[in-house]
Amino acid sequence: MAQAFDISLDSLQSRAVASPNGASRPARSNPIYGGSVHGKGTFFLETFGCQMNEHDSEKVAGVLVSRGYRQVESPEAASLILYNTCSIREKAAHKVFSRLGEYRGKQGEGRIIGVLGCVAQQEGEEIFERAPWVSLVCGSASYRKLPELLAQLEAGNHRVMGLDTDTDETFETEVTRRDNPWRAYLTIIEGCDKACAYCVVPYTRGPERSRASESILREVRQLADLGYSEVQLLGQTVNSYLDPSADKMRFSDLLLSVADVPGIRRVRFTTSHPRDFRADIVAAIESQPKICNHVHLPVQSGSDRILRLMQRTYSRAEYLEKIAMIRGAQRRISITTDIIVGFPGETEEDFQETLSLLDEVRYDGLFSFKYSPRPNTPALAMKDPISEEEKGRRLTVLQERQRQIQSERNESLIGTVFETMVSGKSRRESQWSGYTSCHRVLNFTSQEKELLGSYMQVRVTGAGPNSLAGEHVT
Ligand code: 5AD
Ligand code: SF4
Repeated sequence: MAQAFDISLDSLQSRAVASPNGASRPARSNPIYGGSVHGKGTFFLETFGCQMNEHDSEKVAGVLVSRGYRQVESPEAASLILYNTCSIREKAAHKVFSRLGEYRGKQGEGRIIGVLGCVAQQEGEEIFERAPWVSLVCGSASYRKLPELLAQLEAGNHRVMGLDTDTDETFETEVTRRDNPWRAYLTIIEGCDKACAYCVVPYTRGPERSRASESILREVRQLADLGYSEVQLLGQTVNSYLDPSADKMRFSDLLLSVADVPGIRRVRFTTSHPRDFRADIVAAIESQPKICNHVHLPVQSGSDRILRLMQRTYSRAEYLEKIAMIRGAQRRISITTDIIVGFPGETEEDFQETLSLLDEVRYDGLFSFKYSPRPNTPALAMKDPISEEEKGRRLTVLQERQRQIQSERNESLIGTVFETMVSGKSRRESQWSGYTSCHRVLNFTSQEKELLGSYMQVRVTGAGPNSLAGEHVT
């Protein structure tokens, strides 16, 4: 079993403050808040949900910092409180309303409260009705307008909204205040044009729109100059990337070009859609070791009948062909996936097919969810809902099976030496933590004094279902 090292992120956070992206710009005076007097012109930003949301928040923070706001760690200390919300499942969407509930009856304390992201897009003006103390509602497809919306708030407007989804622009900011000092996230495609029957994303994030390859590469060069050695390209369907510029780079060409930027040692990408996952991407990973050997390829279900109802646009056999293509590579490539249990009408037989797919593919990692009905989605009208209890049972069975598979896969790595990017330091002496290229957490011992941000050779000496343990090889 892997030792559970107690990794503290203190070191990461302290480096993050010193990160080179405008984070430490001095707050300039702000007309409405009267400059930086006693916590005025300060913002608190809490993020829910996926990596895309986390990165959007880095961009929102960048917009605010460049307007002279200063980020604070508690809502009490802030004049502007923002929640960047997620609505992918009901639970996530509820969270924000419980946060907003905390301000009930506290209007007029001089704070401005804003709701950003997917719940903002989904609920729109309704939010003002449910929580009249909210002044800003803005969906992710309207973040381009944030400076304008902030100016309206600063001018004293109490209800400001940005809810367009028809924009053909992507959200790029001059200043992005990145939280991770070594790994930089970069959105290369926004929105989603797939129409999975359960998913709210096409409604909340709008249509797919890709960023020009030259603009992406320019930013990667800047990031490398600032000292970032790893970049992660983001998109709901990252491999559906379509270069809008004359260069017409394929996604795989873009991966190779990003890897060629001097100073870049690792390139990651997520999330891939099986339909658009082709041999050229595998060839790129094989030919360029800087492209990480990890593919996140959500399958959602192992049953053809459910895949059809979900409108996933591929069959189990077609999905397995993609897996065979990845496993056929000379370089060992990790594969992780997402699975939903309890989609309307999912029978025990369908569920057994998902379990058998798990056994067939033997994934390196799994994110699994109980189906959650979402507004506007076709699945909402589907008959034969599965009880919460039954969904819970299926989820437990699925996770238990996967835990076993992961333990076995990880144990097979004992003795292997991995290059590990060190991103955490334990409070315990000589204990460090990092990620392998195949995106496994590797906790290890080393007598070196300062390793954060560096790449170390680590031999695996122990393995558990969720992480590896090892020792630094000198
Ligand atoms: N219910 C449960 N899980 C969902 N996902 C997306 N929509 C829903 C929903 N309505 C899951 C999918 C997707 C992941 C990001 O979230 O598995 O890949
Ligand atoms: Fe949602 Fe499907 Fe688009 Fe993924 S591909 S964001 S699951 S609609």
